[in-house]
Amino acid sequence: MSTHVRTSTAERIASVELHRPEKKNALTGEMYLAMSEAITRAEADASVHVILLHGQPDCFTAGNDLADFLAAGAGAGVATPAIGFLSAIRTARKPIVAAVGGVAVGIGTTMLLHCELVYASPGARFQLPFVPLGLAPEGGSSLLLPMLAGHQRAAELLLLGRPFGAEAAVAAGLVNEVVPEARLLAHAREAALAVAALPPESVRITKELLKRPHARALEERMAEEIRIFGERLGSPEAKAALGAFFQRKKG
Ligand code: COA
Repeated sequence: MSTHVRTSTAERIASVELHRPEKKNALTGEMYLAMSEAITRAEADASVHVILLHGQPDCFTAGNDLADFLAAGAGAGVATPAIGFLSAIRTARKPIVAAVGGVAVGIGTTMLLHCELVYASPGARFQLPFVPLGLAPEGGSSLLLPMLAGHQRAAELLLLGRPFGAEAAVAAGLVNEVVPEARLLAHAREAALAVAALPPESVRITKELLKRPHARALEERMAEEIRIFGERLGSPEAKAALGAFFQRKKG
């Protein structure tokens, strides 16, 4: 059990809460493992119809723990727990609802590309800073984002890597609806309950049909992204950018 991922199951919903607020819910290997296990458990549990993914109303996740990236640059490549989590979320057969408030950086944004219903608060800040960090797109974003948002908009988000707000995320097709922060978790839960009340087999088949046309291409692309990302972690560009993040408060 991870102390930074809280899971619970009630009313046909498996809830997965990221809870490492002192580090903006930055994701460690232990957290990826706990998230993967929660998805695997939910998939195997017939009483669960929907997976609900969230952080706190003012923080989703600052993405992969950058200290782990820095350590991985020493030659380890992309760590297995992160790969396992991306595989679990890519292949999940049950629908996933996400509630995003505050920061959703890196994998905090790319994991949303694998969810069915995504709600964000007006203050949500998304960001795909792979290029500024000397890295490369992950989580299937190099394939899924242009499909959702079109080439130019995907290129803008992935090349410049600047933060963007909830309305821009709606415009890009990443988010279904913007919900006041005070209602965010309740709204996402209500949506999850509504899906959970539907005939589960019909829901499962529909999700599968929606994803089938790109399933193989996505699997191949994500494997390719992981290989390239691993190479980039060891690059001088990435080492300089990651080092700068941890130096920023000292300077
Ligand atoms: N990995 C490791 N630690 C992280 C982190 C990350 N991805 N994101 C935030 N933290 C830590 C900070 O180092 C800080 O720790 P400290 O108090 O021990 O110094 C703490 O979380 C709070 O972060 P801080 O930067 O002070 O908060 P902020 O509100 O000013 O900024 C962010 C929030 C998310 C914009 C900023 O922390 C950030 O840019 N983080 C990096 C995001 C990133 O690049 N993720 C990887 C993408 S591939």
